[in-house]
Amino acid sequence: MSDVFDQAIDRVLSRKNREVYELLQRSGLYDNVATAIRGRKVLVRGKWLTDFASCNYLGLDLRPEVMEAIGPAVREWGTHPSWARMCCSPELYERLEAALAALVGTEDALVLPTISLIGIGLIPALTGKGAAIFADKVVHKVNHDGCRLARDMGATLTSFHHGDLSTLEVGLAAHAGATVRLVVVDGVLSTTGRLPELGRILEIARAHDAIVYVDDAHGFGVLGESPSPEHPYGRKGNGVIRHLGLGYDNVLYVSGLSKAYSSLAAFIGCPKKLKPFLKCNVTSYLVSGPVPTASLATALAGLELNAREGDTWRRTLYEYTRAILDAYRERGIPTDNDTAFPIVSAYVGSAENVERGGQLLFEEGINVTLQGYPLVPRDKGVLRATPTVANTWDEVEQLITAVGRVHQTLTAR
Ligand SMILES: Cc1ncc(COP(=O)(O)O)c(C=O)c1O
Repeated sequence: MSDVFDQAIDRVLSRKNREVYELLQRSGLYDNVATAIRGRKVLVRGKWLTDFASCNYLGLDLRPEVMEAIGPAVREWGTHPSWARMCCSPELYERLEAALAALVGTEDALVLPTISLIGIGLIPALTGKGAAIFADKVVHKVNHDGCRLARDMGATLTSFHHGDLSTLEVGLAAHAGATVRLVVVDGVLSTTGRLPELGRILEIARAHDAIVYVDDAHGFGVLGESPSPEHPYGRKGNGVIRHLGLGYDNVLYVSGLSKAYSSLAAFIGCPKKLKPFLKCNVTSYLVSGPVPTASLATALAGLELNAREGDTWRRTLYEYTRAILDAYRERGIPTDNDTAFPIVSAYVGSAENVERGGQLLFEEGINVTLQGYPLVPRDKGVLRATPTVANTWDEVEQLITAVGRVHQTLTAR
């Protein structure tokens, strides 16, 4: 008798994900366990790695003021509310929702633990039978999962590419009779750091009375209003819509605090009148567990610090990113980042190169995120570096030298 788990693994991998599975098994930079941390360095299998994989863009995970916010909140509220939000929530939630809405400039906000839970809860809740969904082909996988769930519930699902908006326009016109039309896009693309043409997407959606779901997982905390030569990412870190000066008409602004704010929480920025509807229709609000007290406290503390110091950090983050991009360009290391957003992916091609690149970077003492097929197209594997304010200039230099050497080795083969 054959083992059912062997059978399942073989059968599933023969259809998809084999490259990522193999990468996971062999590469030096996948699924590691860190046994110690010192600043932005982590100890992995006895070797200190300088970390460029965390997405803790503002470095708040290591700030004493943020850590110190946890104790008093936990003493007051216990470690975990353990109510479903539909039942009851500690008032920390109300404070966080008010602070987030005030910062990004939406009428209101609704907090859930993760963007993944928002994607699979909100997209089906708004759409379902008779609705039409238009998802950018490169939208994050969690949002695709939400779209597919909505399709199972009777919505039609069409893909378009943000580089070819005529497909979107034609699709919206063809579905003029749909109950709801929802366009799903990311605010910042999580592999390249590029921005889709949000201005044009919003213009098209508004002309067709469609709603636009913008997942700004990466932009929130980094990008903000009134960009200028002195503040290239803009001020306040209040997100991609404010950065581009677009306004929230027809927009559901979705973002999270697990990247720039180093806290497990996510939110939907929405009109006031929508909030009671969301509270009765989003499954993950109705029945999932809540955000732990520690994260509610660190999110609030992080927002306070951001108001005082954030614009200075974002200037540093920009300078780190600019230096990495300029150095990659000088060394002929291909990237696709035209925004200087702190996601710098060095293209290395095949899954084999991603795996080898990971091993070499481990030897160099550098941690980055590896992305191979099917997370990215087959020939577009990357070594993705996400600098944070907690990195130092020495560490930025170390990254540049290491990636330069790895690039030379991989291209010489
Ligand atoms: C664009 C985007 N959306 C959503 C997510 C998932 O967010 P969460 O961890 O809050 O579910 C990520 C995480 O990497 C992301 O990059």
